[in-house]
Amino acid sequence: MAIPVILDVDTGLDDACALLLAALHPDLDLRAVTCVAGNADVDQVVRNTQVVLAAAGRHEVPVARGATRPLLEPARPARHVHGEDGLGDLDHAALGLPTEPAEVDQRHAVELLRDELLAAVSAGEPVILVPLGPLTNIALLLRSYPETAKGLARIVFMGGAAAVGNATAAAEFNVWHDPEAAAIVLDAARELQVPVTMYGLDVFYDVRITLDEADLLLAMQQPAGRLAGALIRAQCERFAATSATIGDAGAVCAVLDPAGLTTASLAVHVELAGARTRGQTVVDQRQWVGDLDHDPHGIPPTQVDVALGVDGERWRALWLAAVGRSGSGDTGR
Ligand code: RIB
Ligand code: CA
Repeated sequence: MAIPVILDVDTGLDDACALLLAALHPDLDLRAVTCVAGNADVDQVVRNTQVVLAAAGRHEVPVARGATRPLLEPARPARHVHGEDGLGDLDHAALGLPTEPAEVDQRHAVELLRDELLAAVSAGEPVILVPLGPLTNIALLLRSYPETAKGLARIVFMGGAAAVGNATAAAEFNVWHDPEAAAIVLDAARELQVPVTMYGLDVFYDVRITLDEADLLLAMQQPAGRLAGALIRAQCERFAATSATIGDAGAVCAVLDPAGLTTASLAVHVELAGARTRGQTVVDQRQWVGDLDHDPHGIPPTQVDVALGVDGERWRALWLAAVGRSGSGDTGR
Protein backbone atom coordinates (compact mmCIF):
# COMPACT_ATOMS: atom_id res chain seq x y z
CA MET A 1 0.00 0.00 0.00
CA ALA A 2 1.28 3.49 -0.88
CA ILE A 3 2.64 5.46 2.09
CA PRO A 4 0.35 8.41 3.01
CA VAL A 5 2.37 11.63 3.14
CA ILE A 6 1.73 15.36 3.51
CA LEU A 7 4.41 17.89 2.51
CA ASP A 8 4.72 21.32 4.13
CA VAL A 9 6.78 23.45 1.76
CA ASP A 10 8.32 26.88 1.13
CA THR A 11 8.59 26.01 -2.55
CA GLY A 12 11.94 26.92 -3.75
CA LEU A 13 14.06 24.95 -6.16
CA ASP A 14 14.67 21.94 -3.96
CA ASP A 15 11.17 21.86 -2.47
CA ALA A 16 10.08 21.54 -6.11
CA CYS A 17 12.41 18.54 -6.52
CA ALA A 18 10.72 17.02 -3.45
CA LEU A 19 7.20 17.78 -4.69
CA LEU A 20 7.91 16.11 -8.05
CA LEU A 21 9.13 12.96 -6.30
CA ALA A 22 6.17 12.88 -3.91
CA ALA A 23 3.68 13.53 -6.73
CA LEU A 24 5.12 10.99 -9.17
CA HIS A 25 6.35 8.03 -7.12
CA PRO A 26 3.77 5.19 -7.06
CA ASP A 27 4.74 4.13 -3.53
CA LEU A 28 3.64 7.47 -2.07
CA ASP A 29 0.06 8.68 -1.51
CA LEU A 30 0.41 12.48 -1.51
CA ARG A 31 -2.62 13.55 0.54
CA ALA A 32 -2.02 17.33 0.64
CA VAL A 33 0.58 20.10 0.38
CA THR A 34 0.66 23.05 2.79
CA CYS A 35 2.62 26.25 2.16
CA VAL A 36 4.64 28.43 4.51
CA ALA A 37 6.69 31.63 4.13
CA GLY A 38 10.37 30.84 3.81
CA ASN A 39 12.37 30.84 0.57
CA ALA A 40 9.71 33.20 -0.82
CA ASP A 41 6.58 34.92 0.52
CA VAL A 42 3.71 32.52 1.13
CA ASP A 43 1.63 33.63 -1.87
CA GLN A 44 4.60 33.02 -4.18
CA VAL A 45 5.16 29.67 -2.46
CA VAL A 46 1.53 28.76 -3.24
CA ARG A 47 1.97 29.76 -6.90
CA ASN A 48 5.23 27.81 -7.19
CA THR A 49 3.63 24.76 -5.60
CA GLN A 50 0.74 24.93 -8.06
CA VAL A 51 3.18 25.07 -10.99
CA VAL A 52 4.99 21.95 -9.81
CA LEU A 53 1.85 19.89 -9.10
CA ALA A 54 0.37 20.90 -12.47
CA ALA A 55 3.58 19.83 -14.24
CA ALA A 56 3.27 16.46 -12.47
CA GLY A 57 -0.37 16.17 -13.54
CA ARG A 58 -1.52 16.18 -9.91
CA HIS A 59 -4.12 18.98 -10.00
CA GLU A 60 -6.28 17.09 -7.51
CA VAL A 61 -3.85 17.32 -4.59
CA PRO A 62 -5.18 19.97 -2.16
CA VAL A 63 -2.82 22.94 -1.66
CA ALA A 64 -3.36 25.35 1.25
CA ARG A 65 -1.82 28.70 2.16
CA GLY A 66 -0.29 28.90 5.64
CA ALA A 67 1.76 31.21 7.82
CA THR A 68 2.81 34.49 6.20
CA ARG A 69 5.74 34.96 8.60
CA PRO A 70 7.57 33.25 11.47
CA LEU A 71 6.14 33.29 15.01
CA LEU A 72 8.51 36.01 16.21
CA GLU A 73 11.08 36.88 13.52
CA PRO A 74 10.18 38.85 10.37
CA ALA A 75 10.06 36.84 7.12
CA ARG A 76 13.51 36.66 5.50
CA PRO A 77 13.21 35.16 1.97
CA ALA A 78 16.23 33.49 0.31
CA ARG A 79 16.12 35.18 -3.12
CA HIS A 80 19.90 34.93 -3.40
CA VAL A 81 19.49 31.14 -3.56
CA HIS A 82 16.10 30.58 -5.17
CA GLY A 83 15.70 33.69 -7.35
CA GLU A 84 13.15 36.51 -7.30
CA ASP A 85 10.15 34.17 -7.79
CA GLY A 86 11.57 31.46 -5.50
CA LEU A 87 11.60 28.93 -8.35
CA GLY A 88 14.78 29.95 -10.14
CA ASP A 89 13.05 32.60 -12.32
CA LEU A 90 12.47 29.88 -14.94
CA ASP A 91 10.89 30.60 -18.32
CA HIS A 92 7.71 28.56 -17.85
CA ALA A 93 6.50 29.12 -21.44
CA ALA A 94 9.83 27.99 -22.93
CA LEU A 95 9.64 24.88 -20.74
CA GLY A 96 6.11 24.21 -21.99
CA LEU A 97 4.79 23.98 -18.42
CA PRO A 98 1.00 23.62 -18.01
CA THR A 99 -0.72 26.97 -17.55
CA GLU A 100 -3.78 25.72 -15.64
CA PRO A 101 -2.77 25.78 -11.92
CA ALA A 102 -3.70 23.16 -9.33
CA GLU A 103 -6.62 24.31 -7.14
CA VAL A 104 -5.94 26.21 -3.90
CA ASP A 105 -7.89 24.97 -0.90
CA GLN A 106 -9.86 27.68 0.90
CA ARG A 107 -8.82 26.37 4.33
CA HIS A 108 -5.75 27.72 6.14
CA ALA A 109 -2.86 25.25 6.04
CA VAL A 110 -3.29 24.42 9.73
CA GLU A 111 -6.98 23.56 9.18
CA LEU A 112 -6.18 21.41 6.14
CA LEU A 113 -3.51 19.59 8.16
CA ARG A 114 -5.95 19.15 11.07
CA ASP A 115 -8.68 17.75 8.80
CA GLU A 116 -6.33 15.38 6.98
CA LEU A 117 -4.76 14.09 10.21
CA LEU A 118 -8.07 13.58 12.00
CA ALA A 119 -9.29 11.68 8.92
CA ALA A 120 -6.13 9.57 9.16
CA VAL A 121 -6.96 8.82 12.80
CA SER A 122 -10.49 7.73 11.84
CA ALA A 123 -9.18 5.56 9.00
CA GLY A 124 -6.44 4.08 11.19
CA GLU A 125 -3.88 5.12 8.56
CA PRO A 126 -1.36 7.50 10.17
CA VAL A 127 0.42 9.91 7.84
CA ILE A 128 4.11 10.78 7.54
CA LEU A 129 4.42 14.58 7.67
CA VAL A 130 7.37 15.98 5.69
CA PRO A 131 8.08 19.64 6.55
CA LEU A 132 10.57 21.14 4.07
CA GLY A 133 10.56 24.79 5.16
CA PRO A 134 10.33 26.79 8.38
CA LEU A 135 8.24 24.87 10.92
CA THR A 136 5.73 27.67 11.57
CA ASN A 137 2.64 25.79 10.31
CA ILE A 138 3.61 22.63 12.18
CA ALA A 139 4.14 24.47 15.48
CA LEU A 140 0.75 26.17 15.12
CA LEU A 141 -0.87 22.82 14.30
CA LEU A 142 0.55 20.85 17.23
CA ARG A 143 -0.13 23.58 19.78
CA SER A 144 -3.64 24.33 18.44
CA TYR A 145 -4.78 20.74 17.76
CA PRO A 146 -2.59 18.31 19.77
CA GLU A 147 -5.14 15.57 19.13
CA THR A 148 -3.98 15.47 15.50
CA ALA A 149 -0.70 13.90 16.65
CA LYS A 150 -2.53 10.54 16.73
CA GLY A 151 -2.76 10.83 12.93
CA LEU A 152 1.03 11.17 12.61
CA ALA A 153 3.21 8.10 12.05
CA ARG A 154 6.34 10.26 12.00
CA ILE A 155 7.63 13.74 11.20
CA VAL A 156 10.54 13.68 8.72
CA PHE A 157 11.73 17.26 8.46
CA MET A 158 14.45 18.90 6.42
CA GLY A 159 16.19 21.22 8.82
CA GLY A 160 18.97 21.74 11.28
CA ALA A 161 22.36 20.09 11.33
CA ALA A 162 24.64 18.29 13.73
CA ALA A 163 27.75 20.03 12.49
CA VAL A 164 27.27 22.97 10.10
CA GLY A 165 25.16 25.97 9.22
CA ASN A 166 24.18 27.70 5.98
CA ALA A 167 22.02 30.73 6.85
CA THR A 168 24.63 31.51 9.51
CA ALA A 169 27.80 29.74 10.61
CA ALA A 170 25.73 27.93 13.25
CA ALA A 171 22.18 27.65 11.90
CA GLU A 172 20.42 25.96 8.98
CA PHE A 173 17.94 28.17 7.05
CA ASN A 174 14.61 26.49 7.98
CA VAL A 175 15.35 26.45 11.71
CA TRP A 176 17.06 29.87 11.60
CA HIS A 177 14.03 31.38 9.82
CA ASP A 178 11.69 30.40 12.69
CA PRO A 179 13.66 29.04 15.66
CA GLU A 180 10.71 29.27 18.05
CA ALA A 181 8.63 27.11 15.73
CA ALA A 182 11.38 24.49 15.53
CA ALA A 183 11.74 24.43 19.31
CA ILE A 184 7.97 24.09 19.73
CA VAL A 185 7.75 21.23 17.21
CA LEU A 186 10.50 19.25 18.95
CA ASP A 187 8.89 19.90 22.36
CA ALA A 188 5.40 18.95 21.12
CA ALA A 189 6.71 15.83 19.35
CA ARG A 190 8.26 14.65 22.62
CA GLU A 191 5.11 15.44 24.62
CA LEU A 192 2.77 13.87 22.03
CA GLN A 193 5.10 10.92 21.36
CA VAL A 194 5.56 11.53 17.64
CA PRO A 195 8.81 10.06 16.26
CA VAL A 196 10.98 12.62 14.46
CA THR A 197 13.67 12.24 11.79
CA MET A 198 15.92 15.26 11.23
CA TYR A 199 17.21 15.35 7.64
CA GLY A 200 19.77 18.10 8.08
CA LEU A 201 22.69 19.73 6.33
CA ASP A 202 25.01 16.89 7.32
CA VAL A 203 23.44 14.87 4.44
CA PHE A 204 21.48 17.56 2.50
CA TYR A 205 24.19 18.24 -0.12
CA ASP A 206 25.18 14.59 -0.71
CA VAL A 207 22.47 13.51 -3.21
CA ARG A 208 23.46 15.24 -6.42
CA ILE A 209 22.38 15.33 -10.09
CA THR A 210 24.82 16.33 -12.84
CA LEU A 211 24.26 19.07 -15.41
CA ASP A 212 24.40 16.40 -18.15
CA GLU A 213 21.61 14.45 -16.43
CA ALA A 214 19.64 17.69 -16.10
CA ASP A 215 19.95 18.31 -19.84
CA LEU A 216 18.67 14.80 -20.59
CA LEU A 217 15.63 15.55 -18.42
CA LEU A 218 15.14 18.90 -20.18
CA ALA A 219 14.83 17.04 -23.49
CA MET A 220 11.93 14.90 -22.22
CA GLN A 221 8.38 14.96 -23.58
CA GLN A 222 6.87 15.07 -20.08
CA PRO A 223 6.64 18.55 -18.45
CA ALA A 224 7.59 17.00 -15.09
CA GLY A 225 10.87 15.74 -16.53
CA ARG A 226 11.59 19.08 -18.19
CA LEU A 227 10.85 20.94 -14.95
CA ALA A 228 13.09 18.56 -12.99
CA GLY A 229 15.95 19.25 -15.41
CA ALA A 230 15.37 23.00 -15.23
CA LEU A 231 15.47 22.95 -11.41
CA ILE A 232 18.87 21.27 -11.44
CA ARG A 233 20.25 23.41 -14.29
CA ALA A 234 19.11 26.60 -12.50
CA GLN A 235 21.07 25.62 -9.37
CA CYS A 236 24.16 24.67 -11.41
CA GLU A 237 24.09 28.05 -13.19
CA ARG A 238 23.48 30.01 -9.97
CA PHE A 239 26.41 28.35 -8.20
CA ALA A 240 28.64 27.84 -11.29
CA ALA A 241 28.66 24.11 -10.60
CA THR A 242 28.44 20.95 -12.72
CA SER A 243 26.02 19.27 -10.31
CA ALA A 244 23.30 20.27 -7.85
CA THR A 245 21.68 18.74 -4.79
CA ILE A 246 18.09 17.47 -4.79
CA GLY A 247 18.02 19.03 -1.31
CA ASP A 248 14.57 18.70 0.28
CA ALA A 249 13.80 15.74 -2.00
CA GLY A 250 16.20 13.75 0.19
CA ALA A 251 13.67 13.97 3.03
CA VAL A 252 11.08 12.35 0.73
CA CYS A 253 13.66 9.68 -0.19
CA ALA A 254 14.00 9.04 3.54
CA VAL A 255 10.28 8.15 3.61
CA LEU A 256 10.48 6.00 0.48
CA ASP A 257 13.78 4.25 1.17
CA PRO A 258 14.93 4.70 4.81
CA ALA A 259 17.61 2.05 4.29
CA GLY A 260 19.54 4.66 2.31
CA LEU A 261 19.96 6.81 5.41
CA THR A 262 22.19 6.36 8.46
CA THR A 263 20.68 7.89 11.59
CA ALA A 264 21.43 8.02 15.29
CA SER A 265 18.94 8.68 18.09
CA LEU A 266 20.35 11.84 19.68
CA ALA A 267 19.17 14.59 21.99
CA VAL A 268 18.51 17.82 20.06
CA HIS A 269 17.98 21.32 21.44
CA VAL A 270 17.19 24.46 19.42
CA GLU A 271 19.26 27.43 20.58
CA LEU A 272 17.02 30.50 20.92
CA ALA A 273 19.21 32.95 22.81
CA GLY A 274 22.71 32.85 21.33
CA ALA A 275 23.85 36.09 19.71
CA ARG A 276 25.68 34.16 16.97
CA THR A 277 24.06 30.75 17.46
CA ARG A 278 20.31 31.52 17.46
CA GLY A 279 18.59 28.82 15.39
CA GLN A 280 21.38 26.27 15.85
CA THR A 281 20.25 22.68 16.45
CA VAL A 282 22.53 21.59 19.27
CA VAL A 283 22.90 17.84 18.67
CA ASP A 284 24.32 16.02 21.69
CA GLN A 285 26.71 13.32 20.41
CA ARG A 286 28.57 12.78 23.68
CA GLN A 287 29.32 9.12 24.32
CA TRP A 288 30.14 9.18 28.03
CA VAL A 289 27.25 9.49 30.48
CA GLY A 290 29.63 10.88 33.11
CA ASP A 291 29.88 14.11 31.14
CA LEU A 292 26.15 14.52 31.46
CA ASP A 293 26.22 14.17 35.25
CA HIS A 294 28.28 17.38 35.37
CA ASP A 295 26.43 19.22 32.60
CA PRO A 296 24.61 22.29 34.01
CA HIS A 297 22.23 22.15 31.06
CA GLY A 298 21.31 18.50 31.58
CA ILE A 299 20.06 16.38 28.69
CA PRO A 300 17.91 18.15 26.05
CA PRO A 301 14.45 16.62 26.30
CA THR A 302 13.80 15.47 22.73
CA GLN A 303 15.43 12.39 21.21
CA VAL A 304 15.53 12.73 17.41
CA ASP A 305 16.64 10.31 14.68
CA VAL A 306 19.37 12.52 13.26
CA ALA A 307 20.61 11.77 9.71
CA LEU A 308 24.39 11.44 9.77
CA GLY A 309 25.04 9.63 6.47
CA VAL A 310 23.27 8.98 3.16
CA ASP A 311 23.77 6.66 0.17
CA GLY A 312 23.80 9.40 -2.46
CA GLU A 313 24.09 7.05 -5.42
CA ARG A 314 21.06 5.04 -4.25
CA TRP A 315 18.87 8.10 -3.86
CA ARG A 316 20.07 9.81 -7.05
CA ALA A 317 18.77 6.77 -8.91
CA LEU A 318 15.50 6.87 -6.95
CA TRP A 319 14.84 10.51 -7.82
CA LEU A 320 15.91 10.22 -11.47
CA ALA A 321 13.72 7.15 -11.99
CA ALA A 322 10.67 8.97 -10.62
CA VAL A 323 11.05 12.31 -12.42
CA GLY A 324 12.43 10.76 -15.58
CA ARG A 325 9.52 8.36 -15.94
CA SER A 326 8.50 8.46 -19.57
CA GLY A 327 5.09 7.41 -20.82
CA SER A 328 1.91 9.18 -21.86
CA GLY A 329 1.92 11.57 -18.92
CA ASP A 330 0.91 8.58 -16.78
CA THR A 331 2.77 8.91 -13.53
CA GLY A 332 2.80 5.15 -13.17
CA ARG A 333 0.77 5.61 -9.97
O1 RIB B 1 18.71 24.93 4.41
C1 RIB B 1 18.05 24.32 3.32
C2 RIB B 1 16.58 24.53 3.40
O2 RIB B 1 16.28 25.93 3.31
C3 RIB B 1 15.82 23.88 2.24
O3 RIB B 1 14.56 23.47 2.69
C4 RIB B 1 15.67 24.99 1.25
O4 RIB B 1 14.52 24.84 0.42
C5 RIB B 1 15.47 26.17 2.15
O5 RIB B 1 14.11 26.20 2.52
CA1 CA C 1 12.54 24.20 1.57
